[in-house]
Amino acid sequence: MKTIAPQDLDVQSFYRLLNSSIAPRPIAFASTISKEGHVNLSPYSFFNLFGFNPPILVFSPSRNRHGEKKHALLNVEEVPEVTINLVNHAMVEQMSLASAEFDRHVNEFEKAGFTAVASERVRPPRVAEAPVAYECLVRQTLPLGDGSATLRPGAGTLVICEVVLAHFQDEIFDEKSRIDPHKIDLVGRLGADWYVRANDAALFEVARPQMGVGVDALPASVRNSNILTGNDLGKLGSVLALPTPNAVASHAQTDGMKALAEEARFGCQYLPDLLHHRAKQLLAEGKVEEAWLTLLLEK
Ligand SMILES: Cc1cc2nc3c(=O)[nH]c(=O)nc-3n(C[C@H](O)[C@H](O)[C@H](O)COP(=O)(O)O)c2cc1C
Repeated sequence: MKTIAPQDLDVQSFYRLLNSSIAPRPIAFASTISKEGHVNLSPYSFFNLFGFNPPILVFSPSRNRHGEKKHALLNVEEVPEVTINLVNHAMVEQMSLASAEFDRHVNEFEKAGFTAVASERVRPPRVAEAPVAYECLVRQTLPLGDGSATLRPGAGTLVICEVVLAHFQDEIFDEKSRIDPHKIDLVGRLGADWYVRANDAALFEVARPQMGVGVDALPASVRNSNILTGNDLGKLGSVLALPTPNAVASHAQTDGMKALAEEARFGCQYLPDLLHHRAKQLLAEGKVEEAWLTLLLEK
């Protein structure tokens, strides 16, 4: 374990550790406009949803290496409006191109080859290619740190935005009108040059927890198993009640359990290990109750 205080490292080295560990992050592709009408489009992964009543999105441009404000921040200080466009896999290379340090008056919609669509409630246009776009009013900009740090390279400013209109491409919805993660195909940002595509094998579901019995209700031999993982224990701890002794006794009489006991006896195998392997398999199949019944046979 490495234990580091931020002041023990130079700013860039600690930034790299933060950036690679607070990850993956969603990407706000922010379109802003100056008071003269120059449009800017740039990505920000210091970004998230911070409230939904009212709907609040926050992103944070850091000062550049010269300690100067980024164009997006200069723009929202002049015109406190933004469109926040979400980035899917089909857009990622063009989005990256838009992040290059073009001059303030260069329009990154044109440089990166995106289509600007006029917004309805705010002045900056939105990105036609984006699966979702939020038109927002900037409610507040908040310099971060103790005040002395705000002119340093890397000093951040929160841009707190309230959504006033949202646009969703029809293609991202499933038949029940829910956004389908496979269809929206979002990307996230990690450290260095890494991105993640939230699709295919990267997607999985975790059942909502109940007020379960807890991992502490598991017998010590199960909690300390070398076969069951922390995820296995989490699933077991999520059940509402332990199986009754009667249920355990009748489970012991099932053909599968009798076969396991025979295997242990004649194969000279350690029965608890066999039970743990069997329970692990049942948990992978989503059969949590049966896994419990199996593990309680150990006693
Ligand atoms: C995926 C991605 C995420 C980024 N996130 C941030 C961020 O959160 N904060 C930041 O200051 N710069 C971030 N950048 C860099 C800015 O996009 C880049 O500095 C850009 O030139 C800023 O443009 P502007 O000065 O025209 O606003 C990111 C770049 C990429 C490619």
